[in-house]
Amino acid sequence: MCGIVGYIGTKQAYPILIKGLKRLEYRGYDSAGVALISNNRHLNVYKAKGKVSDLEGFAAEKDISGTVGIAHTRWATHGEPSRANAHPHYSSSENLALIHNGIIENYATLKEKLQSKGYQFKSSTDTEVLVQLIDYIMVTNKLDLLSAVQLALQEVIGAYAIAVLEKNNPDQIVAARKSSPLVVGIGEDEFFLASDATPIVEYTDKVVYLDDEEIAIICRGEELKVVDFRNVEMNPEIREVKLNLGQLEKGGFPHFMLKEIFEQPDCIYDCMRGRINVDADNVVLSAVIDYKEKLLGARRFIIVACGTSWHAALIGKHLIESFCRIPVEVEYASEFRYRDPVIDEQDVVIAISQSGETADTLAAIELARSRGAFIYGICNSVGSSIPRATHTGSYIHVGPEIGVASTKAFTGQVTVLAMLALTLAKEKQSLPREEFLEIVKELSHIPEKMKKVLELNHRIAGLSQIFTYAHNFIYLGRGYSYPVALEGALKLKEISYIHAEGYPAAEMKHGPIALIDAEMPVVVIATHNGLYEKVLSNIQEIKARQGRVIALVTEGDNVISGIADYCIELPATLECLDPLITTVPLQMLAYHIAVCKGKDVDQPRNLAKSVTVE
Ligand code: G6P
Repeated sequence: MCGIVGYIGTKQAYPILIKGLKRLEYRGYDSAGVALISNNRHLNVYKAKGKVSDLEGFAAEKDISGTVGIAHTRWATHGEPSRANAHPHYSSSENLALIHNGIIENYATLKEKLQSKGYQFKSSTDTEVLVQLIDYIMVTNKLDLLSAVQLALQEVIGAYAIAVLEKNNPDQIVAARKSSPLVVGIGEDEFFLASDATPIVEYTDKVVYLDDEEIAIICRGEELKVVDFRNVEMNPEIREVKLNLGQLEKGGFPHFMLKEIFEQPDCIYDCMRGRINVDADNVVLSAVIDYKEKLLGARRFIIVACGTSWHAALIGKHLIESFCRIPVEVEYASEFRYRDPVIDEQDVVIAISQSGETADTLAAIELARSRGAFIYGICNSVGSSIPRATHTGSYIHVGPEIGVASTKAFTGQVTVLAMLALTLAKEKQSLPREEFLEIVKELSHIPEKMKKVLELNHRIAGLSQIFTYAHNFIYLGRGYSYPVALEGALKLKEISYIHAEGYPAAEMKHGPIALIDAEMPVVVIATHNGLYEKVLSNIQEIKARQGRVIALVTEGDNVISGIADYCIELPATLECLDPLITTVPLQMLAYHIAVCKGKDVDQPRNLAKSVTVE
């Protein structure tokens, strides 16, 4: 969703801001803009609908000088994507320019109040209301920018990260956050500001993650100052970020998504490093050991998540229940937070989020915390809001995921959930030792087996060309493969815009079977596991209705190959680890179909990588 970048220092700001916006493109956006205080002290704002490259085209002939500026990618909430609605927004006096990520919920009331004072609005956004409110407070009370921002934010209800430039003060950026992420980078005689560390890491590894209700006063040539809304001075913790620039580039692949699919063997290896010791027959997630009483004493686990992370949660439920015999419920964070759930201090809530910023997941955590539950986070983005809001947790360590469609983060989440279930099972002695050892050993072989799956890339690319005609797809799986079917269908719809539904295979008879005809592609996860025979019957039912079956089977399966239209043969693994293998060809299938259809794989329409509004 919206991305924020800011710069103040000794260099020209514009190239740094544009590069920063490009680094944030992965978050999803529909328009972009920049504000600079020029060398001759004008506050220039340039905006364009479309991509950052459209903004560059628009600004090409304009005055882009200046060593201080703010820039923004907008993901439309209030008002359509257009130049007028793009940020930065000026105040009427054109003394202030402001960028914003989040939603001002009471914007209508504030707008009415400002209109009654004579303020006029050029956009349909909630953001313009905020900049006008700050301007109004500054002018009527004769206050400086910081004091006006503090007072304005006390009137605002909602979630936001903002940055404000003031024409009359070219040596300062004022930035604030509440429930939307904001990071300040500290360089030599310069500061950077961004929604996450990706635009900052090539200049400095020193960052401050702002906390809720904190305001950063970023002044040229001075130390960073952070205060709260009531002007109490805070003591910001300067942290070191360790992001490798190569992780933010495509590295020879045509798309980030394909690169990230291919990174999975290494990612899973990194995720397990230091946590699995096959020689010692052991799995240790340190957070589980540190809080084992809390976790083992839980009445039940509730996993909250959204999107792909919710699919990982379904697999986590299966793993934890079967390894540990602890009841697990899986909830969409957005539903959980609003339905007054029964939850108390005997519950453990596991929050799963790649970005660590998903607004609904954060709110679900806050609710569960307020009821006394113990919260365990599973995140990828180090230093993001969710790890900071939880009692403890585990990072998945798969590196930045740039493609909007989540791939390596999903397999990383499943790997951490498997390690979590194994660590708990060992502590609880709920798995027979032989079985425990077999799973640990097999988990350690998953990266090699994933590499074998990746060798199927060409074959899957060829297969994909056959199916570009389809308007609908069905994905079927049972047991551990049911969430994989959901995830396979989600990948396809996200990036190819083909309607796809995942179902538990046996549920097909209760409705979706009516859709099956000779046109309908049905992807069936039919690897060798406990329910193989049942899935085989489901395939027969589809073929009896002329459906076109693409089956994922275990290498050497010559039964299904005689029935299905197309078979993708995969290395055998244990049933409980099968999702780590079967997900990969489905990612590749979605990817290649989208490429064949000429879609923007890494930045699909309407989607955002980091969903910072509810
Ligand atoms: C968005 C992304 C998905 C992601 C979901 C949850 O919809 O496009 O890829 O699965 O948010 O995000 P999270 O960061 O909490 O895992």
